[in-house]
Formats: sequence, C-alpha cells, structure tokens
Amino acid sequence: MRLQGKVAFITGAASGMGRACSIRFAKEGAKIIACDINDEGLAQTEKQVKEAGGEILALHLDVTKEEQWQSVAKKAAERFGKINILFNSAGILISKPLVETTLEEWNRLMAINVTGTFLGMKHIIPLIEKSSSSKEFGSVINVSSDAGLMGYVDYVLYGASKGAVLMMTKDVACEYAKRNVRVNCINPSFTDTNMVRELTEGEDPTKVAGYVTPMGRVVQVDDIANLVVFLASDESACINGLPVSIDGGGVNFME
Ligand SMILES: NC(=O)c1ccc[n+]([C@@H]2O[C@H](COP(=O)([O-])OP(=O)(O)OC[C@H]3O[C@@H](n4cnc5c(N)ncnc54)[C@H](O)[C@@H]3O)[C@@H](O)[C@H]2O)c1
Repeated sequence: MRLQGKVAFITGAASGMGRACSIRFAKEGAKIIACDINDEGLAQTEKQVKEAGGEILALHLDVTKEEQWQSVAKKAAERFGKINILFNSAGILISKPLVETTLEEWNRLMAINVTGTFLGMKHIIPLIEKSSSSKEFGSVINVSSDAGLMGYVDYVLYGASKGAVLMMTKDVACEYAKRNVRVNCINPSFTDTNMVRELTEGEDPTKVAGYVTPMGRVVQVDDIANLVVFLASDESACINGLPVSIDGGGVNFME
C-alpha cells in the first residue's frame, strides 16, 4: 500500500474529488481526517471509507472560519498524534460575466477557495512539519484548476481564485522546502463531479460541448485520485512547488 502508516487531512470530503481521495487514500493504507461544511455528504463519505476498511475521523468544518480550523486541527492531533498529508479540496465555482459579478459573490468565493486554502496550510502544515523528517517529507496538495493557468469567458472570479491557489502553492513550497514539507497543486479541467453537474444542469458532461478533453473523454474523480495519491506518497519525493495539469492535454492545445 502506497500510503501505509500515513495520516491524511482532507477538506471538501463530502463530495467529488475530496470524497474520491478519502476512499482511495484509505484503500492505500492512510488514516483519514475528513472535513466539510456538508454534514450529510460527510456522513456518506465516512460510511464509504469504513466499508473500504479505513479508519476515519469526520469533522464539520467551514474552511473560511479560522476558529473552526483551530478546533479541527486540535481534534485531529489528539486522535492520531500526527498528520502527514493535507489535501485542500473544498471549493466552489461561480461563473458570471465581469459586470454581473457582485462584490458579495466575489468575497464569498475568495473566502472559500483562497482564504480556505490559506487557513488550511496555516493550521495543518505546522502539524505536518512536526510529523516529518528529511527521510519522510509531508505532502500538501492544493486544488487549482486549468482556469488558474489560462483564461475562460465568465471566469474572472473563479480564475482569480485558482491563480491565487497556484501562487500560494509555489510560495509555501519555497518556504518549507528545507523544512521537510512538499507543496504541490493539481490543475484539473472539467471533472465529472457535482460542481460540473450543476453547470450542465445534471446532464452527462460527455454529452455537452466544451467539457470533453482533447483525448475525447471527461476527467473522472478516479483520475484525480490516481494523481493525488502519487503526489501524497513518497513516490513523488522530489516533486515540489509544481502545478500538475490533469486535463487530457487541454492546456497545451486547442482543437
Ligand atoms: N469539477 C471540476 O471540473 C473542477 C475542475 C478544476 C478544479 N476543481 C476544484 O476541485 C475542488 C473540488 O471540487 P469538486 O469538483 O470535487 O466539487 P464538489 O462540489 O463535488 O465538492 C466540493 C466540496 O467542497 C465543499 N465546500 C464548499 N464550501 C465549503 C466550505 N466553506 N467549507 C468546507 N467545505 C466546503 C462542498 O460542500 C463539497 O463537498 C474545488 O476546489 C474545485 O474548485 C474542480
């Protein structure tokens, strides 16, 4: 097992990439601290991790609230005594033209996607650092997007947030490179999760123009879990500060 003996802290764990990675990490031997604002979805993830034979601590967390981060970090440390991995997956998407985007929407999305990622690193990396050594680095994986690398129509808000996540990743990777913690981010294109199903109004994204990669298929959460396990594990020991595209080649060429 590729994450045997490790403890992973995962946000956005009630759905999509966060849930898929909670289950996959458990199958790879990690103990899971799963957090989300959606308690119902989180309970479902908890059930699925246990069915997969995993150990999980599920905790309510609004990633925008610093006092909640302090509380969950304390509970996680008390339960498992260490943390090796942070997967910062919580996020929302608002796609709107520039002049129709309200300041309230701007502040809400930035609070979740940017402040949430910042607070996650601020409160969990110190625990990861304590659990790490030059022989066993800890690993942080943030979730940026292809929208953090290239422009899209109606993405002024979402794209700005994902560009910020990418730069925070690089900056914190520099800061912790000699302190035994690696920090990378993933840059997926449209991935078949609830977030995308909301955009397509429930329709299968493979049937909607614009969602399919140049390889002729839509990114799936299993593709994401394959990449995130690699970045979380010691197999990626010399990969640090990197935005990793997972988009079937979409960022490199247009059809
Ligand atoms: N699906 C895509 O096409 C796509 C592409 C690129 C990047 N992303 C990013 O991937 C990440 C995961 O998204 P997903 O596709 O799995 O979507 P999703 O909607 O399935 O999951 C997002 C999770 O974040 C949680 N969340 C939202 N606000 C929160 C808050 N304040 N506190 C705690 N949890 C909160 C939600 O409850 C949900 O469980 C997001 O950061 C998203 O921006 C998604």
